[in-house]
Amino acid sequence: MELIDGNKIAAEIIAELKTQVAALPGRPPCLALVRVGEDPASVSYVKKKELASATIGITSRLIFPPVTITQDGLFALIDGLNADPAVDGILVQSPLPKHINETAVFRRIAAHKDVDGFHTLNLGKLAQEDETGFVACTPAGIMQLLQRSGVAVSGKHVVVLGRSLIVGKPAALLALQRRPWANATVTVCHSQTASLPALTRQADILIAAIGKAEFVTADMVKPGAVVIDVGVNRVADSTKKSGYRLTGDVHFPTVAPLCSKITPVPGGVGPMTVAMLMQNTVKARRQNA
Ligand code: GUN
Repeated sequence: MELIDGNKIAAEIIAELKTQVAALPGRPPCLALVRVGEDPASVSYVKKKELASATIGITSRLIFPPVTITQDGLFALIDGLNADPAVDGILVQSPLPKHINETAVFRRIAAHKDVDGFHTLNLGKLAQEDETGFVACTPAGIMQLLQRSGVAVSGKHVVVLGRSLIVGKPAALLALQRRPWANATVTVCHSQTASLPALTRQADILIAAIGKAEFVTADMVKPGAVVIDVGVNRVADSTKKSGYRLTGDVHFPTVAPLCSKITPVPGGVGPMTVAMLMQNTVKARRQNA
């Protein structure tokens, strides 16, 4: 079993982007990071995005409206960023408070500034294999992890566990692309899937993105499979100072020994999501220049 080191691969990409940004003509790329409220996980994620931006030479604009902001208030904020020629990319951190329609917010962001890839137009471009679009960061990061750790995807059976807009659906579309780094046969499983373990056991590459702590157990994995664990779950742990520990969607202690390769949590997919956001922001700067 080999661990796929997301921190190391993300650091390589960030170093490459830093070189590219230094060579860009004109002003540096600018990323607006919008975080509604103070959800502790969101605070931590947005901080990581801010730090990566600074490392690369991307300017970040931090906007932290209160949790009480209305949907119209958030629309007005986004409209302002859409119209601002100094802003290349806009990210509104998910999840949003219950009173706000998240899909409507993602659609409000101008497609050419949608570095998250959640806008209708960018999802359509992903389906059409139009590379001028933005691909959602976590699925793009998964494909980079596979490519850069020498996992051949073409012709393999990829099973995606989860059908979210942020991970499962775009990951399935990406693995299906007619490209040498993709070309997979893809199965998407979800909460209503019958005989789920029988399907996951067929996976050459299993992508677990269901948001249920340690859901994937050894009986669900084919020996020799590559397992990509997208889950970031906080589980109560009184032995930790924070009162919790982070765990993935995979029961690592029993699944890892079976795998040819597996991503750890933390330090697997998470850092790649940030690196791909940076890549999309540099792409936005180039395309909008
Ligand atoms: N929450 C979890 N992952 C993501 C992501 O990739 N983008 C945004 N905006 N919110 C998230």
